[in-house]
Amino acid sequence: MRVLVIGSGGREHALAWAIAKSPRLEKLIVAPGNGGTQTLATNASIDITDHDAVVGLAKAEKIDLVVIGPDAPAVAGLADDVRAAGLLCFGPSKAAAQLEGSKAFTKMLCDEAGVPTAAYGKFDNERDALAYLRSRGAPIVVKADGLAAGKGVRVAETLEEAEDAVRDCFSGAFGESGSTVVIEEVLEGEEASVFALCDGHNIVMLASAQDHKRAWDGDRGPNTGGMGAYSPAPVMTPQMLERTRREIIEPSIRRMAERGTPFTGVLFAGLMIGKSGPRLIEYNVRFGDPECQVLMMRLKSDVLDLIEATAAGDLRGVVPEWRDEVALTVVMAARGYPGSVEKGSEIKGTDTLNSETVQVFHAGTARDGQRLIANGGRVLNVTALGATVAEARARAYAAVDQIDWRDGFCRRDIGWRALQREAG
Ligand code: AMP
Ligand code: GLY
Repeated sequence: MRVLVIGSGGREHALAWAIAKSPRLEKLIVAPGNGGTQTLATNASIDITDHDAVVGLAKAEKIDLVVIGPDAPAVAGLADDVRAAGLLCFGPSKAAAQLEGSKAFTKMLCDEAGVPTAAYGKFDNERDALAYLRSRGAPIVVKADGLAAGKGVRVAETLEEAEDAVRDCFSGAFGESGSTVVIEEVLEGEEASVFALCDGHNIVMLASAQDHKRAWDGDRGPNTGGMGAYSPAPVMTPQMLERTRREIIEPSIRRMAERGTPFTGVLFAGLMIGKSGPRLIEYNVRFGDPECQVLMMRLKSDVLDLIEATAAGDLRGVVPEWRDEVALTVVMAARGYPGSVEKGSEIKGTDTLNSETVQVFHAGTARDGQRLIANGGRVLNVTALGATVAEARARAYAAVDQIDWRDGFCRRDIGWRALQREAG
């Protein structure tokens, strides 16, 4: 099978790594890829926002299956254009990608499908939004409707902060994404993520994970795309996973099909697990990054079989197998992330670390001849397996400590919550 993976993050390196293990793989191309994907696939430096260029590459390379990694191409409808060209594609249609592209759409779907989520209001003007805020009081959550690179959500402790967030949205801080605003109640509990493959109608639950969104130790500092993750999430017991499937994922997928916009691809449910059970915070229409890295580390089944069955609408009876071990990943980022960073510093010592239990997935890296160069904000995902959280974490940090990169930093406390639980 000839496969084209779209994207250039740690998620796409992990997907490419897992796909490359498949005995069915004939040729693997990653567009645009990074310094890590280059070692196990061919990187194609095309502009992935140019859908004609993607289709052109896929045709020229006789690709059998296109796998869309990130949110932006999914929301932009790349899957529709790939399918219109007669190619098999793993990823949602533009209409189904609204589950990530519009928070108001997801709230409406929750209403229609009876999915438990935070009570909310939806506004297209500042005056009504501010009036609603004042009637509700703080704490309260203000969200720009559309994609905002992870910056469009404010969990406001005070009314002033919430009002500022509303004004930011309507004054154009997030462009078109902020022209509609969702305001919702603060959910209490522990956050976890669950992933499910969907072929439009059938659902295959994958594993759970938890990530660390804040930049600094102790879950402090600015929000990021994710500074580390582990799988499974201890809070997602088999009962909680089953409830999530029954109360959240299944009714959502059923309703999407009834609306005439069936969802295919991987659905990423961000959950709050509270006293009354799981509630949906948000959907994403792709694997999480860095959650994908820990999932791929634990997956025993051939990922190509799973992805192909999803894309082909053929998931019935598919049961993925997982390693029992915990996987944990530590993100190494360039100093300054999530603010502006310098590119171009050299990274040494990554190439000899990979083993049965450790994999260094690359995100923002590039190769300059033999040299590995930092080329983005999040740069490496040092990922390890272990019998326990403590063991996986010790292995991951031992590997981190072998890496010689003066301009990088990482959190030192990834997995603290799971570790506390493990310690009892
Ligand atoms: P994002 O992933 O950028 O959309 O950020 C969403 C984050 O904001 C979540 O991971 C939660 O930590 C937080 N959040 C969003 N909505 C709520 C809510 N209703 N209650 C509590 N926290 C929330
Ligand atoms: N790590 C969170 C995300 O991928 O959205």
